[in-house]
Amino acid sequence: MTTLSRPEAPRTAPLASFRVPGPFDPAHGHEQVTFCNDAASGLRAIIAIHSTALGPALGGTRYYPYGSEDAALADVLRLSKGMTYKNALAGLDLGGGKAVIIGDPTREKSEALLRAYGRFVESLGGRYVTACDVGTYVADMDLVHRETNFVVGRSRPHGGAGDPSVLTAFGVFTAMRACAEHVWGSVSLRGRTVGVAGVGKVGHLLVNHLLEAGASVVVTDVSDRAVDAVRSAHPEVAVVPDTDALIRAALDVYAPCALGGALDTPTVEALQARVVCGSANNQLADDGEGGIPERLLARGITYAPDYLVNSGGVIQVSDELEGFDFERAKHRVEKLFDATKAVLERAEEQGISPARAADHLAEERITAIGASRMYLPGRR
Ligand SMILES: NC(=O)c1ccc[n+]([C@@H]2O[C@H](COP(=O)([O-])OP(=O)(O)OC[C@H]3O[C@@H](n4cnc5c(N)ncnc54)[C@H](O)[C@@H]3O)[C@@H](O)[C@H]2O)c1
Repeated sequence: MTTLSRPEAPRTAPLASFRVPGPFDPAHGHEQVTFCNDAASGLRAIIAIHSTALGPALGGTRYYPYGSEDAALADVLRLSKGMTYKNALAGLDLGGGKAVIIGDPTREKSEALLRAYGRFVESLGGRYVTACDVGTYVADMDLVHRETNFVVGRSRPHGGAGDPSVLTAFGVFTAMRACAEHVWGSVSLRGRTVGVAGVGKVGHLLVNHLLEAGASVVVTDVSDRAVDAVRSAHPEVAVVPDTDALIRAALDVYAPCALGGALDTPTVEALQARVVCGSANNQLADDGEGGIPERLLARGITYAPDYLVNSGGVIQVSDELEGFDFERAKHRVEKLFDATKAVLERAEEQGISPARAADHLAEERITAIGASRMYLPGRR
């Protein structure tokens, strides 16, 4: 007699491999990842909510022609986790999230696509609040706003905060004064020489603050137009041909305000400045253990963590959630002074890099304030 063997049941992953978000622990990964498809408009997007322990997950929408969905997913997971740390350390009642729209914004962006995206953001009920990032602008957020209130970074006529570079630059300047106090015992930057690499929106505004504070300023930029704009406003500013010349100049402070990866090994070895404090995102070319943070520490260079000192922009736009008030937002950015001091003091006490100390302090705040809370709309 032949017996028919039953087909083996499909194997499913053991439940233990699915990590349930609980009290914050980076190893728990993300709370929620949403894939969005809208065939009519061609929208393909991924929204990642890393943590809502401190409040709704806020982070921008990056519109970028990723080579694959996997590349887009890797980016949104990395960026959303970064926002959790940034928002926590900035003292905001916000968690971390981010979104990516896959495509070429110069060719594929349309009102229909952005509004379809807005409806997906709306469907999350406020657990995620979006904003501008690479490839998205204030006018795009105004369109998203037609479908959802869970969007900041809108234009002034739509209740927005305007250009976030204003408080980003002020935040970098504030953090630089905290560094000065930590290193030289005085918040004053008078007589200090500060090198600014990249004088675009943030760098130019930073130069204004520095000159007003009595510092000498040296700048460089690959764009002649950007340099000319600074020089015509401030003829006293010195210009060097490139970043290599800037880092080798006799600086007290180096302020990278251009692209990511500004601090690699050759730069750190050649750098003359005692302090690094600038707006550029992801300055550390290698932030693994024993990487750039430790090299900076070994050379006695005080590094002000990028995601802390450039958080003035997110503080500015997130203020829209309460009805934008510039003075309130500026007051919050002033608190970056104490936050920077706390990071530098913790680093010194423990003999670790400020980059590590910043991560620890962000995690401590999330654990202490967020506990196991997960943000649900309508419940604070
Ligand atoms: N704008 C904000 O509110 C904000 C907020 C947080 C972080 N940031 C970060 O700060 C940095 C500057 O932002 P932004 O808004 O001023 O950008 P921006 O594009 O207005 O200015 C960047 C400037 O850097 C210059 N540049 C590019 N490559 C260079 C190089 N190799 N050497 C010298 N100069 C170079 C560009 O020509 C440009 O003038 C970026 O890393 C950005 O992600 C900005």
